[in-house]
Amino acid sequence: MCGIVGYTGHRDAVPILIEGLRRLAYRGYDSAGVAVLASDGRIDVRKRRGKLGRLEDALQDSPPSGVLGIAHTRWATHGPPTTPNAHPHLTEDGRIAVVHNGIIENYLELRAELAARGHEFASDTDTEVIVHLIEDYFERTLEVGRTSPEAGRASAFIGAVRRALGRLEGSYALAAFVSDEPGLIIAARHFSPLVVGLGKGQNYLASDIPALLAETREVIPLEDDEVAVVTAEGVALQDLEGRPVNRESMHVTWDAAAAEKGGYEHFVRKEIDEQPTAIAETLRGRLAGDQLVMPELDELDLKRINRVYMLAAGTSLYAGLVGKLQLERWARLPVEVAYASELRYGDPVLGPETLVVLVSQSGETADTLAAAGSAREAGAPTLAITNVVGSSLTRVADATLYLQVGPEIGVVATKTFTGQLALLTVLAAELGRRRGVLPAQEVRDIALQLRKVPEAVATALESEPAIREVAQSLAGRRSMFFIGRRFGHPVALEGALKLKEISYIHAEGYPAGELKHGPIAMLEPAIPVFAIATSSPTYDKLVSNIEEVRARGVEVTAIATEGDERISWHAEHVFYVPHVREELAPMVDVVPTQLFAYHVAVALGRDVDKPRNLAKSVTVE
Ligand code: M6R
Repeated sequence: MCGIVGYTGHRDAVPILIEGLRRLAYRGYDSAGVAVLASDGRIDVRKRRGKLGRLEDALQDSPPSGVLGIAHTRWATHGPPTTPNAHPHLTEDGRIAVVHNGIIENYLELRAELAARGHEFASDTDTEVIVHLIEDYFERTLEVGRTSPEAGRASAFIGAVRRALGRLEGSYALAAFVSDEPGLIIAARHFSPLVVGLGKGQNYLASDIPALLAETREVIPLEDDEVAVVTAEGVALQDLEGRPVNRESMHVTWDAAAAEKGGYEHFVRKEIDEQPTAIAETLRGRLAGDQLVMPELDELDLKRINRVYMLAAGTSLYAGLVGKLQLERWARLPVEVAYASELRYGDPVLGPETLVVLVSQSGETADTLAAAGSAREAGAPTLAITNVVGSSLTRVADATLYLQVGPEIGVVATKTFTGQLALLTVLAAELGRRRGVLPAQEVRDIALQLRKVPEAVATALESEPAIREVAQSLAGRRSMFFIGRRFGHPVALEGALKLKEISYIHAEGYPAGELKHGPIAMLEPAIPVFAIATSSPTYDKLVSNIEEVRARGVEVTAIATEGDERISWHAEHVFYVPHVREELAPMVDVVPTQLFAYHVAVALGRDVDKPRNLAKSVTVE
C-alpha cells in the first residue's frame, strides 16, 4: 500500500526521505518518488517505476538538494504502475507538489471540471486532481487579494488545501507544499493513516510510525479530517474549517531494531520463528493463574448480546472462522463470519443485540473499516482485534484488544494470525464464563492449556528440515489442495492462502468432506494434498477423506499429532506437532503450513517478503 514521508528542517531532505520510504517498503509498492524544494526555489521531482533502488539510482548522479521534501511509494489503484503515474504530482508550472494515499472516488467529475478550466493532466491517477484543485483555490485566493502579501501566502495556501479537501470524496492521507512558501508542508487525513513526527528544529510526516523511528519517537497520529501545518519550528493542527485542534504527542517505546531482519534471510521467516514469543506476549496479562482476564469487555454493553458477527478479510477472516467455532462451543452464541468487503453492500441483520468483532492485523483495512461503520450505524457494539496501536479501526470500535506480537514486516500475515487466534481463544472462553455457560473447570483447563501453546509452537517449528525437504520436492507442482475438518478447516484455508500468496502456486483450501462434492474432479497424481489431521473427534472421517484422494493416486502430506503412528499408513509425508486441545490446535497446526509455503517460495526464488500485487495494509475498498 502507498507510503508517505515528509521532512522540513535544516538537513538535506533526500536521505531522510529515502530512509523513511525504505522503512515503509514492507507495505508493498510498485513505484516511488521524491519532491524537494531546491535552494533556487524550484521543486525538483524524481520518480521511477519499480523498486526503491531504481529511484536511488536515478538520484545518484545529481541528487536534488534542499531542506524540505515529500516522498511516496505508490501501490497502483488508478492507472498502471508507470513513472508518470508515480507520486509526487505537480501543477503544470511546477509550483505545487502533492503525495497522496487512498482513493478519490469523485476524481472523474473533478478532472472534467478542472480540465474545463484549462488544467492539463500528466497522469492517469486520481491523485492529480488534488494538486490542480489546490492550485485553483490558491490562485483564486491570491487574485482576490484575500490575504496580505506577506503573512498571507502561507494562510492562502493552507486555506486552498482545506478548500480542496472539502471537494474530495473517498479517502486520503496527503502532504503538499508550494514553492512560494519555503519551509511549509500541509498534511491531512481522511480514512488513511498519517502521523506527524516531532523533532528539534525539524519535523516529519509518515504514513506509518516505523518510517520515523530513526529520527524521532515523539509522534502525533492525525485523526480523520485533521490538517497539520508543519514547519521546521513547529506543528499546528486544525480541523477542516481551520479551527485549532490541541492534542498531546505520544512517545513510541518500541524499537526500530525490532523491525529489522535480525539475521534472517527474510522477515517472513523471522516472524514465523517469533510466534512462540509473540503468542506468549499476547497472552501476558490475560492469564491469571487458571483464570482468564479481558477487562476490555467491560467497555461494551454485552447484556443484550445474543449473537456475534465476525468481520474481517483474508487471513484475519480465517482467524475469525476459528473464533466462530470457539464462540459457538464455549459461549453458546451463534456466530456469523462475513467478508468485510461484502457486508456493506448486503442487508446484514445487525443491531444492539449483535456483538461485532472486527479482526484486522493492520487496523487499516478499508473494507473492515467500512464494515465497522455499518455496524456502528446499526447500533451494534464493536470490538476490534488488531496489532497496530492508534490504527483507524481502534478509533471507530467501542473497545479494542491488541495483539502484542510486535511489528509484522513481511507482507503476508504469520505471527499476527496466531496472535489473533490467541486473543480470540481468550475472548470466546471469557464470554462463555461471563454468560455462565462455560463450566469453571473448562475455563481452568483452557487457561492451563493456553500456557502450553508457545512451547507447542516452538516444537512444531523443529520440523523445519523435513518440511523444507518436502517443500523442495513439491515446489514444481502447479496446484495443491489443503483439507481439514472443524478446527482443521480454517487452517487448511490459511495454508492454501499462504502458499498462493508467496509462491504463486494455485492452491485451494477445502473442508475435507466437501471434496467429493466437486473438487475431487480436479485431483490427479500431479496435484498433492495437504491434510490437517491432528487429533479431533472427526479424525476417522478425515482419514476416510484422505483415502478418497489417495485412491486417485495423489501424494498426501499430513500434519498429525505426536504419537499418531497410524497416520503414516495414509500419508507419504507426516509433520508431527504436539498435542493441545482441539480448539487451540490451529495455533500449532498452522506452523508447518507456514514453513511449507515459505520453503516452496524460496525454492522458486520468489520475493517472499513483498509478494507481487500484495500490500500489507489494504487501505482501498
Ligand atoms: O490487516 P488485515 O488483517 O485487515 O488484512 C486483511 C487481509 O488483507 C490480509 O490478511 C491478507 O490476506 C494478507 N495478505 C494475508 O497474508
